[in-house]
Amino acid sequence: MTTPLPQALKSLSSATQLDELYPLLDQQRLTAGWHKKRASLWKSPKTQFQPMYWSYELGKVALDQAGRWMDTEFAERRNLLLFNPVGDNDYDTVRTLVAAYQMIKPGEYAKPHWHTPNALRFVLEAKPGAFSVVDGVKLPMLPGDVLLTPGGSMHSHYNESDACAYWIDILDVPLVHLLEPMFFEPSHQALQDVIDEPDEHAYWFKEADVLSHFESVQRLGQTGLQSSDAYTHALNSQAHIVTQSLNYHHFLAEQTLAIPKTTVSRIFCVASGSGEAELGGVKCLWKTGDVMALPSWTSATFKAAEPSRFFEVNDRPVLDKLGLFRQEPHS
Ligand SMILES: [Fe+2]
Repeated sequence: MTTPLPQALKSLSSATQLDELYPLLDQQRLTAGWHKKRASLWKSPKTQFQPMYWSYELGKVALDQAGRWMDTEFAERRNLLLFNPVGDNDYDTVRTLVAAYQMIKPGEYAKPHWHTPNALRFVLEAKPGAFSVVDGVKLPMLPGDVLLTPGGSMHSHYNESDACAYWIDILDVPLVHLLEPMFFEPSHQALQDVIDEPDEHAYWFKEADVLSHFESVQRLGQTGLQSSDAYTHALNSQAHIVTQSLNYHHFLAEQTLAIPKTTVSRIFCVASGSGEAELGGVKCLWKTGDVMALPSWTSATFKAAEPSRFFEVNDRPVLDKLGLFRQEPHS
């Protein structure tokens, strides 16, 4: 409770020096801008988020172990959140995005629900028979594929194959937490009705198409052995998920990818191959299925030991729309 107004006015009016004002202002939930405890502006971004690396090998063992005791009835989703150890955070991977490893066992059904955050899945391991249903559209979950579940769409996942299915979820939940327009609702139906089972869909990016695109640009000589840089191409996804940019990076052996300091936060999933990385000065080795997080204003270099491929999700569209994209000037 603040001090009643007449008493506050009397106290303020009777102050005899500047220092006496501060506690009185504090009682009224006012801070003197010249006397605040923390700076509110600084010269350049100073994120507390750390560059991070997670091993799929470890994540898979952990999911398999959890699967011994926990089913999709108990938990709506069997997933492991890749959190950044900043403060008491145990959810966000980077400031605006969260990534998780998820697994469903043969015969399981991850129940339908919808939420305002946008989501996508990057499939690591699955046999034919694993599906996502998005607004009634049944889409196969095959290794290397990307499936979108835009905010507001009812979605569920199920597995009719004889093998566990593993994928990486990436959502903009932390951005929605910051801006606060969170809505979530489980379906009143246990199973989602299927109204379509198409061969192609705007929410479905097939690995085969990604590979054939890369092969065609190589044939045309637009990239290849003569370059030391990995080849990058963007997926055409922003009509459906406006907050995220999705990129593939194709490496030939010994090729590198250099990410400069920008205001963009990024998550990299290793689609295939192996190599080494330096994330903001932190070195790591990566291989298929691993995930790396690169906070804003942090540079990185990746070098492939063999032909390799990354799937990257970043928040650049948000920064562009808000006029907040910046890149460190080249020296
Ligand atoms: Fe969901």
